[in-house]
Amino acid sequence: MWHYKEDILHIESTPVPKIAAEVGTPIYVYSLQEIERRVHAYQQAFPNALLAYACKANAHPRILAHLASLGCGADVVSLGELTRALDAGIPPEHIVVNGNAKTDEEIARALEVGVLAFNLDAVEEIPRVEAIARELGAIAPVALRINPGLDLHTHPHLRVGAVGSHFGIPPHDVLRAAEMVTASPHLRLRGIHLHIGSQLTQLEELQPTARLAARWVRTLREHGYKVQHINLGGGLGISYEGGPELTPTDLVAAWHPHLEGLNVHLIVEPGRWIVAHAGILVVRVVQVKRAWGRTFVAVNAGMNALLRPALYGARHRIVPVVRKPGEIYADVVGPNCESADVLGRDYLLPPVEPGDLLAILDVGAYGRSMANTYNLRPIPREIIIS
Ligand code: LLP
Repeated sequence: MWHYKEDILHIESTPVPKIAAEVGTPIYVYSLQEIERRVHAYQQAFPNALLAYACKANAHPRILAHLASLGCGADVVSLGELTRALDAGIPPEHIVVNGNAKTDEEIARALEVGVLAFNLDAVEEIPRVEAIARELGAIAPVALRINPGLDLHTHPHLRVGAVGSHFGIPPHDVLRAAEMVTASPHLRLRGIHLHIGSQLTQLEELQPTARLAARWVRTLREHGYKVQHINLGGGLGISYEGGPELTPTDLVAAWHPHLEGLNVHLIVEPGRWIVAHAGILVVRVVQVKRAWGRTFVAVNAGMNALLRPALYGARHRIVPVVRKPGEIYADVVGPNCESADVLGRDYLLPPVEPGDLLAILDVGAYGRSMANTYNLRPIPREIIIS
C-alpha cells in the first residue's frame, strides 16, 4: 500500500509529494487496491456470507462503488448512508439497516427501496416499524439485534455489547420481541444480529459473537420461531502499530465450531478491517515550537480532520513524507484552540521544518467519516489512487 522509494513516501506507485502539490493539504489519500485486497481476504474466508460493509467507516462514493462491483452489500445507519450506498450501486437487497434511533423517514425510505433487513434495536422500535410498514402496505424484514451484555477489553466508547449499553435488545426481552414481530402481518422475522464491539484484536473477544448467536438461534427455534440468517456484525480490529493482526481466516476458525450445522445464512458487517490501512492523511507542518523542554510540531489539521486521537486516545503512526537524516522527539499537535487537539506525543521524526509534509497512517476507517468543521476549518478533501 504505502512504501518509501528513494526516501519519498508512495501510495501504490504514486509519490505523495506530487499529490500534495497538486491537490493541497490536508488530504486523505486512499488506495483502492488495498481495499480490494482486503475485501478478497474476507470473501475468501467467508465464501457464502454477505459482506455488508459498514459504511460508517468510510462512505466515499468511489469506494462504495468499488465495493459494489466486488459484490459487497452495506450496513447503513442513516438516510445519508442509505442514499450513498444505493447511489453507489449496492443493491437494496444487500443492505441492512442498523441504528438505535431510526427516524420514521429513514424507516419509510428503507422499506420503499426494499432493504434486506432492519436490525431492530429495541422492543420499543417494533410498533414504530410496524406502523410505517402498515401505512405503506409493506412487510418489513427484521432481525433482532441482541445485546448479550458482555464485558470486553476494548475502549469503553467502542464497547456496545455490554451491560448498560444503549444498543440492542437485552437478553430478557429477546423472546418477547420475537413474539411481537411474528404476531404482526407487517413484520417478518428473518434473523438475529450481534455486534459486540469494535477494534477487537483478540480472538477471545470475537469468538463469543458466534457462540451466543448459535445459542440464540437454537433458543428461538425451540420456541417455534424461524431464523434464516445471523448477522455477526463487524469488530475485527487492526494493528495501529504496524504489527501482526488477526485476519478473517482467524475469525472463521474461531466461529466455525459454533456455526457448523446451524443452517443459517451468514452476514458480516466489517468496516475498519477493510479500509483502515488503505488510507493516510497528509498534513503540512505549519510551525515548530520549542517550549517547556518539548518540541511541538504544529500541523494544518487536527481533531477537526481526525478525531480518533482526541476522542479515544488512539495512536496513529505518523511518518515523514520525505525522509531525511537526523532525529527529534516531538509532539504532533493540531491547529485547533483546544488542549485535546494533540495527534500524538513523543513521535520520533526527522528534524522537520515548516512546509514539510507528514503522513498519518491507518486513517482509512473513521477518519474522514468523523471529520468536522471545528474552528470553521473545512473538511479535508479525499483522493483515491486506483
Ligand atoms: N456493525 C455495527 C452495528 C456497528 O455499530 C459497527 C461499528 C460496525 C458494524 C463496524 O465495525 P468495525 O468492523 O468497523 O469495527 N469510531 C470508532 C469506531 C466506532 C464503531 C461503531 N460501530 C473508531 O474510530 O474507532
